[in-house]
Amino acid sequence: MRFLQKLIVAFVALPGRILAEFVCSNSHLSVHVYHESPTTVHYQGKDDLLYSPTAYTLIHSAHEAVLVDAPTLLADGASLAKWIAATAPGKKLKYIYITHAHADHFNSFPALTAMFPEAKVVTTQGVIEHMPAQYEGAIWDYFWKGLFPSIEKANLSVVEKLPSHGKFWIENSKFEFRAVSVGEGDTVDSTVLYVPHLDLVIGGDVVYGHCYQYIAENPTAKLRAQWKRSIDEIAMLRPKIVIPSHMQPQEGFGVKHLKETTGYIEEWEVMLESAETWEDLEGMAKKRWPDRVGTFILRYTAQSFFNATF
Ligand SMILES: *[C@@H]1O[C@H](CO)[C@@H](O)[C@H](O)[C@H]1NC(C)=O
Ligand SMILES: [Zn+2]
Repeated sequence: MRFLQKLIVAFVALPGRILAEFVCSNSHLSVHVYHESPTTVHYQGKDDLLYSPTAYTLIHSAHEAVLVDAPTLLADGASLAKWIAATAPGKKLKYIYITHAHADHFNSFPALTAMFPEAKVVTTQGVIEHMPAQYEGAIWDYFWKGLFPSIEKANLSVVEKLPSHGKFWIENSKFEFRAVSVGEGDTVDSTVLYVPHLDLVIGGDVVYGHCYQYIAENPTAKLRAQWKRSIDEIAMLRPKIVIPSHMQPQEGFGVKHLKETTGYIEEWEVMLESAETWEDLEGMAKKRWPDRVGTFILRYTAQSFFNATF
C-alpha cells in the first residue's frame, strides 16, 4: 500500500500523455519536472519524425519558485504555466532561468510571464548574445518555422542578464541558484543551473537522457572535446542529482547521465569514421541505441555530417 501511494505521488498523469515527475525534496525545497511529450515535426516534406521529449524543472520553496527553461510553442508554455499553478499553488514564480540559446528552451516564456507577471526571465550574457540568432535566416525560416509552423517569436528584450557570478536567490537570500557557464554543450555558450542546497544540477542540453543527442553544432573533434570537458566541469560540482533536458520519463535523475552523454559522443565519433552516407550513420545509431527517442534529432544530426539538411 505504501509503495502504491509512493507511485501515485511520483507520477502525476496529465491530459495529453504529459507526465509530471517528483524529483526530490528536503525540508525547504521541492523539485518537480514536467515532461513535454515528443511531437511530430514537418521535415523534408514528411511528418514522420518526432522531436525529442523535453523536461522543464520547477524548484519551489514555501512561498516562491524557479522554473528552468520554457517550451517551444506558446500553447505548450500555457499548459506548463497551468501545471505550475497546480503544483505550487499560491507560490510566486520569481524566476524563469534559460539554460542555453535554443528556442526549444525559451521561446514560450511570454505564455509563462502572462500567467506569472512578476517572473523575471534571466540568463547569462553568453546566452543572451546568441538568442537572436534563433530568429534569423535559415534557423528561423527552415528550422523552427519549418518544423513548427505555428511558432511565434518572443520579445527578447524582456530577458535580463544575471551578474557575472551567475547567482540569484529565492526567499530573500535563503536559497541560492547558480548559473554555471560551462561553454560548449550541444550549442555554444551553454550553461547548467546548480542548486547547492540540493546537490542538484539541471543540465540543459549539456547532459542528455535517453534521447538521440543533437551533435549538428559540433562538427569538429575540437568542439566535441570541449563538450566533454563541460561534462567534466559539471562532475566537479559533485552533484547527487542531475536532470537532463532531453530525457524520457521515469529513467531517473542520477549522475549516470554525465558518463552516458560522454559515452554517446565517443561512440558517435567511432561511427563517423566508418559511415559513408547519412543513412549509414542514422542506421548505426538506431541499432546501437534502439531505446533512445527523438528520431528527428537523429535524422538532422546524421544529415548535418553529410551536408544533407533542409
Ligand atoms: C519588448 O519588451 C520591451 C521591454 O519590456 C518593451 O520596451 C518593448 O516595447 C517590447 N517590444 C514589443 C514589440 O512589444
Ligand atoms: Zn534542446
